[in-house]
Amino acid sequence: MTGPTVAIAGVGRFGALHARVWAEAGARLVGLADPDPDRLAEVARAHDVAETWSDLAPLLDRVRPDVVVIASDEASHVGLAVTALEAGSHVFVEKPLSLSSVDAWRVADTAAAHQRQVVVGHISRFTAPMARMRAGVERGAVGTPCALRLRRDFSRAWFLSFGDRVHPVWESCIHDIDLAISFARTPVRRVTAMCSGAAGDAAPSVVSALLEFDNGVIATVESAWLVPATAPGTLDDGPLTLDGAIVGEVEVLGLEGILKARLVSDALVEWTPAGVQVPDLSLWPEEDGVVGGALRREVGYALAVFTGRRKPDVMPVEEACWGVAAAEAVVESLRTGGPVEPARR
Ligand SMILES: NC(=O)c1ccc[n+]([C@@H]2O[C@H](COP(=O)([O-])OP(=O)(O)OC[C@H]3O[C@@H](n4cnc5c(N)ncnc54)[C@H](O)[C@@H]3O)[C@@H](O)[C@H]2O)c1
Repeated sequence: MTGPTVAIAGVGRFGALHARVWAEAGARLVGLADPDPDRLAEVARAHDVAETWSDLAPLLDRVRPDVVVIASDEASHVGLAVTALEAGSHVFVEKPLSLSSVDAWRVADTAAAHQRQVVVGHISRFTAPMARMRAGVERGAVGTPCALRLRRDFSRAWFLSFGDRVHPVWESCIHDIDLAISFARTPVRRVTAMCSGAAGDAAPSVVSALLEFDNGVIATVESAWLVPATAPGTLDDGPLTLDGAIVGEVEVLGLEGILKARLVSDALVEWTPAGVQVPDLSLWPEEDGVVGGALRREVGYALAVFTGRRKPDVMPVEEACWGVAAAEAVVESLRTGGPVEPARR
């Protein structure tokens, strides 16, 4: 095998799926790092990886991988990314890139100083409808874009199990803030956000934010973790061990037209003894025994960027930094109740 060598930091639920997809894309898994010995052993066994460490730094000393994939808890992303870049690896880091704009720019600056690439795992950019919408906006299919509407709802049970590991804006809204940036392609200059006063303890899980971009485009970003267990599942039985539902829509309104899409497909409906499901076929569907969809396209894109076969045009790191600054402003606006200007470089 001659593919790039890859080490993975964080082999929990999503890191284990990354291990599979990077291997299926032709990368050679040469090491895993995770403080949880059970997770390490399970994923190492599944992919026949010999080097397993509780910390990333000694693993890097040992295997010097071309690429480090970071799929650990959100608060650890920056430290791991800087460590990997300083060791000479390219970095794929799951969203959010960081939990502060200062840290986000630190990662970008470290990458530039070491002439390495960073790809942030904003998977929604790599779904087929979003890629087509972005291309449509770029070639002027709807004229001048004026407004964006993005809505994403998650299962209530997810909020109760992991949704408050960090402020939920970093878990859910960050996806849609990033999508809005992918259409507006400028930084956000002002943010106003509210969370539902009626939602009680679940309040931070019900967020509405208004974003104003430098080029005058406005975006509404809405997120609620209130989908009940009785709703048809969209992720059940997929390769990620996460039962529940993601439901959402994206609209781009231009002077000459409108583009709109559902965030996850609902083309297939299954009525079985297991209940009703509308399995998502866009994010990480299993196709002929391998994982396809947006996750496979995202990993293929990252490999092409890391091996110099394409420019980082779909997910430039500075756009991820703008997203972190905007999400930080949303959290601050929720705290203060007023408008907030995202941090600039
Ligand atoms: N793009 C998507 O659609 C998507 C979907 C799910 C998760 N995610 C992201 O993936 C990341 C992981 O989420 P998850 O659901 O797999 O969480 P998880 O809790 O299942 O797994 C996190 C793993 O990271 C490990 N870890 C913690 N600190 C570490 C460190 N310093 N070094 C190495 N490993 C460390 C933990 O032990 C755990 O095994 C998060 O950033 C999350 O937002 C993205």
